[in-house]
Amino acid sequence: MFEGACACAQQLPNNGDYDRLAELLNKYKQQKGALIPMLQETQKLFGYLPEPAMEQIARAFAVPLGHIYGVATFYAQFYLEPRGRHVIRVCQGTACHVRGSSKILDRVKQELGINAGETTKDFRYTIEPVACIGACGLAPVMMINENTHGRLTPEMMSKILLKYE
Ligand code: FES
Repeated sequence: MFEGACACAQQLPNNGDYDRLAELLNKYKQQKGALIPMLQETQKLFGYLPEPAMEQIARAFAVPLGHIYGVATFYAQFYLEPRGRHVIRVCQGTACHVRGSSKILDRVKQELGINAGETTKDFRYTIEPVACIGACGLAPVMMINENTHGRLTPEMMSKILLKYE
């Protein structure tokens, strides 16, 4: 069993590179329609959109912070909370559901001590709920990062998770 979820700031996986952020702001702040690419680059840099970075973006783009939050929360691609090094997506689509994906998800939650949508305290894993990921022939399926694991049983989960340090 891994430790449960927490948002302990001192354990953030990536404190980011604010020098690089300043370079990006210089590159994008004069460009029309550059806010979304700027947010994408920022997320690449930090793994999510930290508040201090959003404040810097708001100042550089001369727009209210609320506008930046509005854009960041509108698009599902942006994350306002830090995520784990390994993102686990257990498919809950119909084909996977029929073949027992809820038992797979329950086992992952039990192994990690967190719920779907949460991140382990050590920022190793995040569980993300997801619908069909297009590999129904392998149901039940989950993805860890870019890797697909199929024909799963709850018993396989501990071994698979241990492969992701
Ligand atoms: S329903 Fe799970 S991959 Fe399609």
